[in-house]
Amino acid sequence: MRKALLGLEGVLNRVFGSDLNPLYCLGALGFYSFWLVVVSGAYIYAFYKTGIDLSYPSVEFITHEQWYLGGIMRSLHRYASDALVLVMALHLLREFILGRYRGARWFAWITGVPLIWLIYAAGINGYWMVWDKLAQYSTIATVEWFDWLPIFGEPLSRSFVTHEALNDRFFSLISFAHVTVPLFILFLLWVHIMRISKPVVNPRKGLAIGMLLALLVLSFAVPVLSQGPADMAIEPTKLDIDWFYLYIYPLLDIWTAGQVWALMAGLSLMLVVLPWLPSRFKQIPVAEVHLDDCSGCRLCVADCPYEAVVMRPRSDGMHFLEEAVVVPDRCVSCGICAGACPSSNPFRGEVGYVSGIEMPSMMMSGLRAGMNRDLEKLSGDVRILLVGCDSAADVGKLRSASVATLSLPCTGMLPPSFVEYALHEHHVDGVMISGCREHDCYHRLGVLWSQQRMAAKREPRLRGRAERDRIKIFWAASTDFRELEPELESFRASLAENLKIMHNKEER
Ligand code: HEM
Ligand code: SF4
Ligand code: SF4
Repeated sequence: MRKALLGLEGVLNRVFGSDLNPLYCLGALGFYSFWLVVVSGAYIYAFYKTGIDLSYPSVEFITHEQWYLGGIMRSLHRYASDALVLVMALHLLREFILGRYRGARWFAWITGVPLIWLIYAAGINGYWMVWDKLAQYSTIATVEWFDWLPIFGEPLSRSFVTHEALNDRFFSLISFAHVTVPLFILFLLWVHIMRISKPVVNPRKGLAIGMLLALLVLSFAVPVLSQGPADMAIEPTKLDIDWFYLYIYPLLDIWTAGQVWALMAGLSLMLVVLPWLPSRFKQIPVAEVHLDDCSGCRLCVADCPYEAVVMRPRSDGMHFLEEAVVVPDRCVSCGICAGACPSSNPFRGEVGYVSGIEMPSMMMSGLRAGMNRDLEKLSGDVRILLVGCDSAADVGKLRSASVATLSLPCTGMLPPSFVEYALHEHHVDGVMISGCREHDCYHRLGVLWSQQRMAAKREPRLRGRAERDRIKIFWAASTDFRELEPELESFRASLAENLKIMHNKEER
């Protein structure tokens, strides 16, 4: 599944470019769909009348008498709601396939589950507001479905939705719920991204405009219409179903209410326990702060993608104001904080030096020692250090007599000073940096921070003395290995060319 997803994303990257790839911002598209639903809903709500004899005609009025605006808004409301479900399903599936729900990421996953229920509740409730034949069918089927639960003394279907019992209170209730449930959704969305640093909640302009245009074209081409007024005395026989929201009803026609409850409860339970099911996933120990080497500069806080580092007043009497603290159950062990810390610098003298924040299983001094060992062994005319990450193309396969490799939990764990160190202390001819595809970092921000650090746009910056033509960045997912190899070869060729020019100059 992962291979297929990466293949599809690769195709979309070629069509849209990686910054407009819709699969890279499904969460943001979810937020955007939600806002489109809210804005279009607010407009039609202004004309909506609450009552058994008022609701249907008021929706008909909006649809036909004011088709050019009210009708379009109604269609936009429906299609944006469908888009919300589609985008949410793809987002869930993508996070699942990429395994972004285990370890400390359980929080976003678990808070996503009630979102599904609430979005469905709001959508189905919306269908009832129209009070056409589809609403009648869906209301009765829902009430009968709920009657199966042993929580109501008298069956709801008898006391609630008979022709006599249906009154304006029912419409006031559903109309109130249609406003309050989205408020709960909004609150839960806020909780959903609470532990994510700099969450992407707005899609890029091009995607937002493209999606709005597509929904508007659909609204003009296939306007949403009601399916005739509800009549409790006549059971509807032929209906058009919205398969994004209402698929449960045909299911209720073929299965018993108990079986459908079992399916829904089973699926929800499976989603809830998924992060804790046994798997091959193993998280390395979380980041650790070493106060003796922490100056309280906050760079680790700024770079952590999961809000897992916080600052608190200094506790060790040192003259700095603050110290960093890791919140262990939020940390995904990406190492990006260690790449941000100024004291990770390998030019420091001590053999077993310690950085302000470290990954206990991959200390900076250990990385430097390993790198020293590997770089000293390099031979050949063009010697290269290739750095990659464990979630992307396997750089280890390209290790050779002239290429040393270093794979990190995330490329963002690489302090730029390590690149300068390889170039100037070991005189390697070039450093190539790889990792997950652009806009698709497994640890969210590692690729972006690495790009900005290497372009000297973000602290810790690559310093001016590091020659840019001896550094190459090429992002490659695990399925892009075949592209990484020729890129390495072309880098080697360009380094060889540069070396030749330099020798010629020296000889002259
Ligand atoms: C329409 C509803 C939803 C919206 C609008 C939404 C939106 C978002 C956003 C904006 C992010 C942050 C993305 C980033 O900047 O990296 C996110 C992350 C996440 N979402 Fe959702 N989400 C929704 C539903 C769900 C559901 C149903 C699930 C799964 C049950 C889910 C699972 C996750 C996970 C696991 C992450 C964290 C990914 C990571 O750690 O990198 N979401 N979501
Ligand atoms: S390893 Fe560091 S950057 Fe990564 S989640 Fe943990 S504290 Fe944050
Ligand atoms: S980056 Fe390093 S020095 Fe700065 S606050 Fe974090 S741990 Fe301390």
